[in-house]
Amino acid sequence: MSDLMENLVSLCKRRGFIFQASEIYGGLNGFWDYGPLGVELKRNVKEAWWYDMVTGHDELTTVSGAPCPYTIVGLDSALIQNPKVWEASGHIGGFNDPMVDCKTCKLRAREDHVQETACPRKPSKMAGEHTDCELTSPRLFNLMFKTYVGALEDASSVAYLRPETAQGIFTNFKNVLDTARVKLPFGIAQVGKAFRNEINPRNYTFRSREFEQMEIEFFCPPDSAEQWYGYWRERRLQWYSSLGLKSDRLQLRDHHSDELAHYARGCADVEYRFPFGVSELEGIANRTDFDLKQHAEHSGKDLTYFDEATRERFTPFVIEPSAGVDRSVLAFLCEAFTEDEIPDEKGKLQKRTIMKFHPRLAPIKAAVFPLVKRDGMPELAMDIQRDIKRAGWMAFYDEKGAIGRRYRRQDEAGTPFCVTIDSQTLDDGTVTFRDRDSCEQWRVPRENCVSELSERLSL
Ligand code: GAP
Repeated sequence: MSDLMENLVSLCKRRGFIFQASEIYGGLNGFWDYGPLGVELKRNVKEAWWYDMVTGHDELTTVSGAPCPYTIVGLDSALIQNPKVWEASGHIGGFNDPMVDCKTCKLRAREDHVQETACPRKPSKMAGEHTDCELTSPRLFNLMFKTYVGALEDASSVAYLRPETAQGIFTNFKNVLDTARVKLPFGIAQVGKAFRNEINPRNYTFRSREFEQMEIEFFCPPDSAEQWYGYWRERRLQWYSSLGLKSDRLQLRDHHSDELAHYARGCADVEYRFPFGVSELEGIANRTDFDLKQHAEHSGKDLTYFDEATRERFTPFVIEPSAGVDRSVLAFLCEAFTEDEIPDEKGKLQKRTIMKFHPRLAPIKAAVFPLVKRDGMPELAMDIQRDIKRAGWMAFYDEKGAIGRRYRRQDEAGTPFCVTIDSQTLDDGTVTFRDRDSCEQWRVPRENCVSELSERLSL
């Protein structure tokens, strides 16, 4: 693991962003728990996505300069669906990764990862390179987790944990059409858990066995699909940069024709330069009418659309922006992680770690400190904390330790502003505001704390 990644993983554990799942029992490979700071960060990522894509979406969109209004509505479908869903989607037949084993050292790896996996017996060599290595030929391994529904554990009760949220959207296409008064083009958005029994979970949370997705299935007339595909590629790339991912670490990569699914007309990945390499955050695909047609055929239900204006009936095309919550969180963590040096109280340079989150994503928006634990300062500080919380922001109260150390703890948590109540507050009613990134300090009348925060956070 690179130094940066090692430092980040250690900070995430030390400060309560991410823990290994069931750690006290030795953990379970590919599963992660989000701690108090991590859960806020993750919620903020999902809320930013939901607000930008669904609730706050401006319906008067222009595409290539022309007005092109569309609606996005939400959905929350079940994690476990009738197994026929996965037959129709192709997951039962084709959601496989080729897996190889080493007969000597019992290594098990995805075939395409073998060359990047160290040999367990001789880590200076890659798997298969050691003279004693004996790799099997690849076998297909289905990534869906199996379970049983009901009391009987036999073939008739087999079900699967969903490997993606998308299929719940396709199977509800008609329900949404009939109930939400939507017309093409429109999208259905869903955020939720997905499960894949990955052969090699790796790179921290990047490839996990349980993760969350943020997916939109955007339904449109076939003849405008290309245009909408172009629109969603740009819109989704822009979303990541609007939340602080730097453009020199972000890119849109078009799939080569041999990477495309047989039904797709185009696919591009939003990629981020992680410390472990450039890797996918999200895929945007023109899936044509494949999914709706598959479900229509397998269910026997009509999943076509009747266009009142043209009096035509057809199966809509689908553009799918499909993002991973955990991968986005990991990218925002990597981007935020910064080390610098600032002078301490005596002017000596001290190393510090700051998580420079975008204010929308910061788990805690402000921390409030009484300089000392007397003279009514704690009570004043708690009042201010309460005001900030009532405004809807996460605020943290801390009265323990030297003020410099309290600031640095908040820098590591990524808190954009600290508010300190000191002796001057008792004289003139002002408090000290401190900026996380610049360490700049200024005074604000205590009754203006919420408005100052609102202006500075510009949320
Ligand atoms: N419905 C399309 C679909 O699921 P995908 O490329 O397999 O496409 C979409 O997954 C996104 O879900 C990925 O870009 C990634 O962000 C996230 N994702 C997929 N597998 C993951 C895993 N094992 N761990 C974490 N995130 C994953």
